[in-house]
Amino acid sequence: MAKITVIGQGECDFDGQFSLLEALDENGFDMPYSCRGGNCGACLVKLVAGDVEEIQSPVYEADKGHILTCSVIPLTDITIELV
Ligand code: FES
Repeated sequence: MAKITVIGQGECDFDGQFSLLEALDENGFDMPYSCRGGNCGACLVKLVAGDVEEIQSPVYEADKGHILTCSVIPLTDITIELV
């Protein structure tokens, strides 16, 4: 099970949820989002460590080193930071 660390907020486990955003939501993290569909970029965070896999092809292009929490799941333990 992958561990998710949100810098400044805490950590939780990824437990097979649909997306990283859903896992964070379920665990009580106050994450930014809007469309949940990879279109708006509101859920953009910095990927500090670890690997993720895309679960949908986002229209919004994340900058290098950043991920859309609505559009990925963790493959390894990850550390992210709000931007
Ligand atoms: S919530 Fe809109 S791109 Fe993730």
